[in-house]
Amino acid sequence: IPVEPFDFIAFGATGDLAERKLLPALYQRQIAGQFSEPTRVVGASRSKLTNKEYREFARKAIVDHVPEKYIVAEELDRFLARLSYVAVDALSGQGFEALKKIVGDSDRIRVFYMAVAPSLFGDICLKLKEHGLASPQARIVVEKPIGRDLASAQALNDQIGQVFDEHQIFRIDHYLGKETVQNLMALRFANALYEPLWNSAHIDHVQISVAETVGLEDRVSYYDKAGALRDMVQNHILQLLCLVAMEAPASMDADAVRDEKLKVLRSLRHINGGEASKITVRGQYRAGASSGGAVRGYADELGGPSGTETFVAIKAEIANWRWAGVPFYLRTGKRLATRASEIVIEFKHIPHSIFGEQAGMVYANQLVIRLQPDEGVRQWIMIKDPGPGGMRLRHVPLDMSFAQSFGVRNPDAYERLVMDVVRGNQTLFMRRDEVEAAWRWIDPIHASWEDSGQEPHGYTAGTWGPSGSIALIERDGRTWHDPQ
Ligand code: BG6
Repeated sequence: IPVEPFDFIAFGATGDLAERKLLPALYQRQIAGQFSEPTRVVGASRSKLTNKEYREFARKAIVDHVPEKYIVAEELDRFLARLSYVAVDALSGQGFEALKKIVGDSDRIRVFYMAVAPSLFGDICLKLKEHGLASPQARIVVEKPIGRDLASAQALNDQIGQVFDEHQIFRIDHYLGKETVQNLMALRFANALYEPLWNSAHIDHVQISVAETVGLEDRVSYYDKAGALRDMVQNHILQLLCLVAMEAPASMDADAVRDEKLKVLRSLRHINGGEASKITVRGQYRAGASSGGAVRGYADELGGPSGTETFVAIKAEIANWRWAGVPFYLRTGKRLATRASEIVIEFKHIPHSIFGEQAGMVYANQLVIRLQPDEGVRQWIMIKDPGPGGMRLRHVPLDMSFAQSFGVRNPDAYERLVMDVVRGNQTLFMRRDEVEAAWRWIDPIHASWEDSGQEPHGYTAGTWGPSGSIALIERDGRTWHDPQ
């Protein structure tokens, strides 16, 4: 369904995010027929570029990052024709009048996308206000990191909040735009089957793994100050945990959903003092092999030793009626054995087996929700092995691989999220109190690591992280699900 015409202003227009995600996402949405005319895209950044040069940049970004079969010359020209560029400087305010001339005084929907360092959010917001650009129909999109702890997140939220109302602020977490993540809500709340079992009486534990094979890449200055806990757990993994654990919201209304997620975040039991060394594991990759080739260790890539973790595993607990006693094992890391992200819901064992030893093991049912690379849902159940060989049991998946079942392209998370911003739908965006509640849980873990001097353990690139991560779950008589 087409949306109203809008102006999309991308700050950081020549950066990595604009190149890899935003321009390709907007192009795909045009092809999908979602734009009404005149919709305009304005690139804004410090570089001195002409409109023509920016269009060339955008052409290359789209050709490089959109699959070839979607590159249609007419569509691309039509997209480039809606682009213009303005050189801006957030500190001096230079260029903001020129931007105003482009977007005019209209009350059209205006999206300001901050694909820039968070240290610039405040200045840009103030300049937008000073130049009368922060109109009632304006929305602002901010990317993580939203702070590096609670205090800095609050300061950043205050700065943005001086200019924009909460209903205009879209804090993006691209995991919420992933197809399977939204499917998690469909699975839970559009089926009568799961919800009655979705609690501590029937679920043994939950695992959330986000495993990457990439290393530091070109993100030295950001990543080494952040580390895996801030980079992945504070946002993506806690958002996944919220969607698994929340109560049914009254509707898909943004605040109804976010109220429920907030309750989960507030119920997370804090990990304090010496406890972190027992239920959290930090790791840092050493040299090894990944994706078929030899790779350097983190410190080597960085150019010196570092105390930053590239892997973290945590045994988290949600202290409420539904989840008391059900561990949520979380893990994420760079340079792991394979790229795979999944949520595993492991149900309790049957209370009593009527089958003899010859029938084999009766495994616990597992629901595996796979986010990437091949999205899908698998419900593992026990069946009788077919054939006349007597009662032998087998653990098999009821498999729903989305690509195979639907054969359609899964839109990139940004495509969905960008259009939600235009529509003003905040359901898949984080509210201020959510971000801050997440930091309230993360901060004591960092404090505990610092107080106890808990340094990351080395792990060989291409493995599943430090052995402590395996011990963390095996101590409880459980094992990590193998996502291979
Ligand atoms: C980003 C993190 O938010 O998510 C990166 O900063 C990480 O470190 C990325 O690589 C993972 O996203 P995806 O969509 O590739 O799983």
